[in-house]
Amino acid sequence: MAQFQAAQADTVIAPSLLAADFARLAEAADAVEGAVDWLHVDVMDNHFVPNLTLGPPIVKSLKAATDIPLDCHLMIEDPARWAVGYAELGAYNVTFHAEASDDPVALAKDLRAAGSKAGLAIDRDTAVEDYLDLLPEFDTLLIMTIKAGFGGQQFLPAMLDKVRAARTHAAAGHLELRIEVDGGIADDTIAAAAEAGADAFVAGTAVYGAADPADAARRLRARADAARSSSL
Ligand code: DX5
Ligand code: ZN
Repeated sequence: MAQFQAAQADTVIAPSLLAADFARLAEAADAVEGAVDWLHVDVMDNHFVPNLTLGPPIVKSLKAATDIPLDCHLMIEDPARWAVGYAELGAYNVTFHAEASDDPVALAKDLRAAGSKAGLAIDRDTAVEDYLDLLPEFDTLLIMTIKAGFGGQQFLPAMLDKVRAARTHAAAGHLELRIEVDGGIADDTIAAAAEAGADAFVAGTAVYGAADPADAARRLRARADAARSSSL
């Protein structure tokens, strides 16, 4: 019954700087200020994924350059060694990969103790079922809707089964859990992800590949909000 339903969390739109000009990251942040909720920062180490992007010094500079909360997505090996450093730099949310961690719950506790939200990411080939029982320890569950490593890939609709499973589990356990989707999120895919139960949406190409990134982000939000309210 409606009165027993938890209030639906606001939609989070998180443009991914991976699709921005890396020599102009502060300008990329400014371009979406006021239109987005988080800035998604893809940290890749050339080991967990073949690609290589950025690390703590750039996150530190970004933190000083923008007031938009930073959503750090660590696609790195050995997150137990590195993740807390991002929290200490002031990242709002720090997400590490389940596939890279021996003890995700311990790391989630360390992240929260260091002052950030704790996020767990599940890559394309990983089932979510093994991690459902850990979700009370996390604020964010990031479900990859591509294979982690590169922007500009095509959205994989089959990944939404994981979103549905996680949302059902979270609702049954009354968990306050952000479910974030990452990869191929655009005007033509965001509604399906929202209907499946996602409430945070990473978009790289769809925002920074657009002539007006803020306008693109607003359009994505409108589509997500419409889909979420119609699936209530
Ligand atoms: C890829 C990254 C994504 C990437 C998404 O591994 O995790 O955040 O930026 O890019 P698009 O939105 O272009 O698929
Ligand atoms: Zn990402």
